[in-house]
Amino acid sequence: MIIVIDGPAGSGKSSTAKAIANRLGIKFLDSGALYRAITYLWLKSGKPDKAEFFENLSNIQLEADFKDQTFYVQAGGEDLTDKIRTKYVADQVSEIASYKIARSFVNSFMRDLVKKDTYIADGRDLGTAVFSDADLKFYMDASLKERAKRRFLEMKNSDSSVTLKDVMKNLRSRDEKDQNRDNDPLKRADDAIIIDTTGKSFEEQVSEMISIINEKLNLN
Ligand code: CDP
Repeated sequence: MIIVIDGPAGSGKSSTAKAIANRLGIKFLDSGALYRAITYLWLKSGKPDKAEFFENLSNIQLEADFKDQTFYVQAGGEDLTDKIRTKYVADQVSEIASYKIARSFVNSFMRDLVKKDTYIADGRDLGTAVFSDADLKFYMDASLKERAKRRFLEMKNSDSSVTLKDVMKNLRSRDEKDQNRDNDPLKRADDAIIIDTTGKSFEEQVSEMISIINEKLNLN
């Protein structure tokens, strides 16, 4: 069984999906973390020719698992979980995610991963392209200002040089790239339930979505 949440950067998808996974005892899949991981690996390899690099992605031995409330990503035994959260990776990821061959790699990795357990996954194109037959679809959104404020508060603990203006610029540019790319752009699926989190507390949005899940699906 799979529940998906799509939406723009900083709309609260990952933290909400993780909290729902913990409360319902299901697994969380962070599709953005997989795009960040391949971006990190491309940067670490010295930004080689993209076509060649993507064609060889199947050699990287990517692994992902949700345990102890964390979505872990590893490649060739190297733990990438924290390394993919830097501004350096954030600035490049939407460009990398716009390539069809990179998307095919991540999509087939995800389809394999969800075969065994019940998952709640978050991303941009899960309800429209990757899991178009998902059991339940949500689309989360909030104003750009509110999304930037939230992301800034998260990032400033690990990177004191980051400013609210930088974060707003990064989110605006990623939204623009994600919505306008040719390959599986960010778009609400027609059958997705919209959750606008502007002005809502975290607890309010989690409870609202859990009520909908309980009403529509019988997970027990
Ligand atoms: O957490 P945040 O919303 O900032 O981003 P993320 O979920 O970590 O995703 C990083 C980037 O990966 C996004 O800006 C997209 O460019 C790309 N992405 C995508 O293209 N398709 C997905 N299903 C998930 C992420």
